[in-house]
Amino acid sequence: MKILVLHGPNLNMLGRRQPEIYGSMTLAQIDEQLQRAAQAAGATLLTRQSNHEGVLIDVLQAEGWDADGIVINPGALTHYGLALRDALAALSAPIIEVHLSNVYRREAFRHTSVVAPIATGQIAGLGWRGYLLALDWLLHGQ
Ligand code: DQA
Repeated sequence: MKILVLHGPNLNMLGRRQPEIYGSMTLAQIDEQLQRAAQAAGATLLTRQSNHEGVLIDVLQAEGWDADGIVINPGALTHYGLALRDALAALSAPIIEVHLSNVYRREAFRHTSVVAPIATGQIAGLGWRGYLLALDWLLHGQ
């Protein structure tokens, strides 16, 4: 089983970036937790972060076709990244959209997700554990 985890713009700054909103875990620490969970289930996990929509699309085109599941936190691209959405929609694997913060309690522009309509599910507001819950569902829940 192959799972792809994608992190969008600014998520490389986790730990330093508004920890009161996004928590104190770094992206490396989150990815390590995910790797552990995947390994325990005998799955292959690929994690990538980029600040560039095109790079995220390149990764999806290269690694998404044979993936059995995709976990993505598109960052701000969530709200307007139509090219990213199209790249995700082309794939057949289930997609779980994850947000560390509860975007629906925040600014109005964060209430719209262009990814949600093509995702299988969405987890928002549960911090880094949201990633773990998404991965758990892909590994065991389907
Ligand atoms: C985020 C929420 C987005 O609105 C924001 O632009 C991010 C992070 C989250 O994980 O809560 O970069 O996706």
